[in-house]
Amino acid sequence: MSTTAKILVTGGAGFIGSHTVVELISKGYEVIIADDFSNSHQEVIDSIQQITGVRPHVCSYDLRDHDAVSAIFRQHRPDAVIHFAAKKLVGESVEKPLHYYRSNLLSLLNVVESALETDCRRIVFSSSCTVYGQPEVLPVSEKSPLKKAESPYGNTKKIAEDILEDTAHVTALKAVSLRYFNPVGAHESALIGEYPLGAPSNLMPVMTQTAIGKRKSFSIFGTDYNTNDGTCIRDYIHVTDLALAHVAAIDRLFSTEGQGSYEVFNIGTGKGISVKEMVDAFEKVNNLKMKYDITARRPGDVEQVWADTQKANSVLGWKANRSLEEMVASAWKWEQHLAQKSTHSKTL
Ligand code: WQD
Repeated sequence: MSTTAKILVTGGAGFIGSHTVVELISKGYEVIIADDFSNSHQEVIDSIQQITGVRPHVCSYDLRDHDAVSAIFRQHRPDAVIHFAAKKLVGESVEKPLHYYRSNLLSLLNVVESALETDCRRIVFSSSCTVYGQPEVLPVSEKSPLKKAESPYGNTKKIAEDILEDTAHVTALKAVSLRYFNPVGAHESALIGEYPLGAPSNLMPVMTQTAIGKRKSFSIFGTDYNTNDGTCIRDYIHVTDLALAHVAAIDRLFSTEGQGSYEVFNIGTGKGISVKEMVDAFEKVNNLKMKYDITARRPGDVEQVWADTQKANSVLGWKANRSLEEMVASAWKWEQHLAQKSTHSKTL
């Protein structure tokens, strides 16, 4: 692969997108970010430059606008795309299904059509373990049956995968879908991390915001599940390990010949951690106590899911190696950095 290969990263100012941009630049790729900043912060670009010494070019367009997306591809002629940009709030998708189908599917269609029009034949897609629902057999492998999505959000991921697979069958498109499990943590510099615009619903930022005092307490949703401590089990993966999986997927797309291929990989650690274990690890590693209570189950929660990652390990040559301790320590360091930034900006 020539080190001057150019990668277009949609949603590149977001949580996983920004961490992936950092690793792509560190690997020698040229990166263009397309992000409308509807769910991310402009200052993330400054942080990427601070970490890598490179300021990626940013196109700030609505990816639902076909002409805008086509113009990005015609102007920049990327050699590959990593498509992160999507609405991702499960609960919101249930209340606003049309908004989610339009946003997530129209942006994907525009990206794939514009890519093929400009002979950009490589795409990595941000998919999700949500497509498995509650697996009958654990760990869940790429061959496990997919279940009816629990939400319109999850369904947009499934439909998007089908669009890529069907298109790869009849065009030169080489597509890879990465099915994420639960991304957590932050870059070791604490200059980028999970930066929700509104109140988060997922566990890690809920914990860090409770620990820093942005929230008084939080709830553990249900302790009556059929698990060892009664709380749900997930496969939490450090966001930098997840970012490196995208670099491995891009490397593969440049190193394999042939045209028209579609591959799917589970990107997790292969280890299940319960909510209680996560809370205890967060308190122990960061030497703090958080206020929380136990409430009823959250509707739609899957009881337990973790990944069989053998395919990514062998085919991509990728394996997660950051520990649970690094996940909770880096998440906390990032939340503390955010607090210092807001204090500093208030004193200006
Ligand atoms: C994890 C566990 C909750 C908050 C996420 C994304 C989803 C998909 C998969 C990308 C559950 C419990 C949570 C709280 C709690 N990712 N919890 N109290 O539901 O696995 O889904 O990963 O596509 O988009 O949202 O993650 O962090 O919300 O929940 O007890 O305040 O933590 O019940 O068991 P989830 P989560």
